[in-house]
Amino acid sequence: MSAAATPGTPAGALSTAPDAAEAAARAHALFTESFGYEPDGVWSAPGRVNIIGEHVDYQDGLCLPMAISHRCFAAAARTPTDRVRLRSAQDEQVLDIDARELAPGAVTGWPAYVAGVLWALGPHISGATTRGMDILIDGQVPLGAGLSSSAALECAAAEAIEALLSLGTTPLQRVQAAIRAETDFAGASTGGLDQAASVLSRSGHALLLDCRDFSTEPVPWDLAGQGLALLITDTRAEHSHVDGEYAARRADTERAAELLDVPTLREVDPADLEAQLARIEDETVRRRARHVVTEIQRVREVDALLASGSVREHVTALGELLNASHDSLRDDFEVTVPQLDLAVDAARAAGAHGARMTGGGFGGSIIALVEAEQAEPVAAAIAAAFAEQGLTAPGSFLALPSEGAGQDR
Ligand code: GLA
Repeated sequence: MSAAATPGTPAGALSTAPDAAEAAARAHALFTESFGYEPDGVWSAPGRVNIIGEHVDYQDGLCLPMAISHRCFAAAARTPTDRVRLRSAQDEQVLDIDARELAPGAVTGWPAYVAGVLWALGPHISGATTRGMDILIDGQVPLGAGLSSSAALECAAAEAIEALLSLGTTPLQRVQAAIRAETDFAGASTGGLDQAASVLSRSGHALLLDCRDFSTEPVPWDLAGQGLALLITDTRAEHSHVDGEYAARRADTERAAELLDVPTLREVDPADLEAQLARIEDETVRRRARHVVTEIQRVREVDALLASGSVREHVTALGELLNASHDSLRDDFEVTVPQLDLAVDAARAAGAHGARMTGGGFGGSIIALVEAEQAEPVAAAIAAAFAEQGLTAPGSFLALPSEGAGQDR
């Protein structure tokens, strides 16, 4: 993406992910080259963007993510042993470990997200089953862009392990195993949004996710058929203190729920919000609570709009809700950084119906809801704003609503 891109260039000029069938064939070939024999199959899982419903999953909220076309591929084969060998096309680090020795802290780096899934699926594996396997990972989800490359890795691994060991787990059980791999094994915090989106999303749809019980409903989100597009721009802002800040925000929301005497902020009635907020003395905690309660309400409003008509029919109102979500994350939840705000402001000024940061924040990506023919000029306007401030050039592409995790070959 260059700042000099011609205004009016169709959205098709923006890059999308490599073809999935070709990528799966590549993972197959890389496995064969690396391990010296053919894999039993290739499985994959996508990254995600969250359309709205940010920083609410760990408060039992509602989210509306969609899978993107960038996926993580796992070519794998079962072996008649208990040894697990993991390799990656992107990283030198390898793992060769006895599956019975897997325990939190025993594995570090990217292999922890794969080994952690095998560990978390343990209760579904009978004692007599050998757990040996070889897995080659080929990840396409941009790293550090806030697009859930780690969830894609975990969920691709979960699909492969499920199939290799014939476990009979449900998709939701695989979501739960992926969440445990991240929180309990790799030691990174997550509210489950990313893993649910990666496994449960349906092509052409967004996914309404109720984090109370992880029930889901596909919501039609066929933007291309309506002359619209969802532009993703990776700001390439350096992530710093992400884990600490994420944990601090979570703690603030837990404190708010405690002060309001509710199990989670999902229980707060938005109609009674002001009265409830008045009960919280700490100004910061009050703002955190306001974000969560108003954000859950915005998801309800988006869902109601999409239930009563197409994105096209409600595009202005939907754009306003995306804008309000970003402003709340910036002012009340304080998880944006200057690059996220700059990209959002530039997208809005260039004619986006709405724009917001997506994911955990503190760097990462924004999404902008745009007319299809505006995707390229909006991307160019964001790039120009970054260039003007001497910032690292951002990267833009289109978010096509894709299918969740599954087998590719
Ligand atoms: C990260 C976490 C998710 C969610 C989002 C914010 O992506 O992994 O669980 O909390 O931040 O919505």
